[in-house]
Amino acid sequence: MASAPSPGPRHRSSPAPLPPLVFTFDIDGVLIRGAQIIPAARKAFDMLNGNNPMGVKIPYILLTNGGGVGEEARRLKLSKQLGVDLDVDQIVQAHTMLKSIAHKYADKPVLVLGGRTDVVRKVAESYGFKHAYTTLDVLAWKPEAWPFHELTPEERASTQSVDFSTTPLSAIFVFHDPRNWSLDIQISLDVLLSHGLIGNTHLLRGASPPAIDMVFCNPDLLWKNEFPVPRLGQGAFRDAFQAVHTAVTGAKYPHVVQYGKPTRATYAFATRVLYDRLAALQGGRALAQEQLPRVYMVGDNPESAPDIAGANGAGWESVLVETGVYDPAEGPPAHVPTHIATNVASAVQWAIEREMSAAQ
Ligand code: G3P
Ligand code: MG
Repeated sequence: MASAPSPGPRHRSSPAPLPPLVFTFDIDGVLIRGAQIIPAARKAFDMLNGNNPMGVKIPYILLTNGGGVGEEARRLKLSKQLGVDLDVDQIVQAHTMLKSIAHKYADKPVLVLGGRTDVVRKVAESYGFKHAYTTLDVLAWKPEAWPFHELTPEERASTQSVDFSTTPLSAIFVFHDPRNWSLDIQISLDVLLSHGLIGNTHLLRGASPPAIDMVFCNPDLLWKNEFPVPRLGQGAFRDAFQAVHTAVTGAKYPHVVQYGKPTRATYAFATRVLYDRLAALQGGRALAQEQLPRVYMVGDNPESAPDIAGANGAGWESVLVETGVYDPAEGPPAHVPTHIATNVASAVQWAIEREMSAAQ
């Protein structure tokens, strides 16, 4: 039974105490499916905004393996799609944590993959990468590098003029799901097998490649949009790349860095973001360990482990919903969550009731 919404903001000398729980929400399959909002999300946000048995606002962040645009652009799009006024510090995308390592590559040429035209180049530059290049730049430089794709006028307009024979690329960052797997696999191979100089002869089969990191930001094999069956995600691209690398060289590429749920690095980054937000809500005061609310992660994807195993590994409570990749008809999930809920609204309701009964 939802109680009346909490009274409006009062002039307090100190901020309201934090509730006993906070949430981290996955996006695709929990809040939205492609362009469509999942109806239960509206009820969930109403409860988070104070219309709940505790009668208080409940803080939350969004943690997604999605991305492809800057956090501010995603905030605007999601706020409109979900009908809530999100803050940019509530949004952690697959590549957001690259902000914390961009300084290491600030002056080094890197290849960035994913998304349309050069949108991820702009995201990379906003993080501090000063020489971020796309596979479309390579095609503009030498169309014969991949003769099976002709640049559209829009793609050509997005390219930069670069001589890759004299521009050693120091790393590859897969910011988001590549749109042209064949082109991106070919150019990635060229970079990794030729000491970063595209067009140089490839290393001999069996030779150990130089340590040029290939950084993936999302391990999802599958994800859920409006289509009735889950779609292949960036993890499938990674596996396709490794299959080709193995066929060409005899082994998987060894210098792979994986970020995204459920990696510890991403959950550590998200935990920092969550605590910084809670501290900001508390007037900027650092939170003592005993003040930290219990974190509930609500996700939809148990099989490739991002939402459930990651949350469990981070010491968070995990709630698996049935509106995304997970289909109860397929039997129990590979990674056991704290709770399975029909949708995000029933997940929020269950967590609130659980905390209230624990407090009695
Ligand atoms: O590309 C997005 C997809 O991999 C899953 O996103 O929000 O379910 O973590 P999300
Ligand atoms: Mg999801």
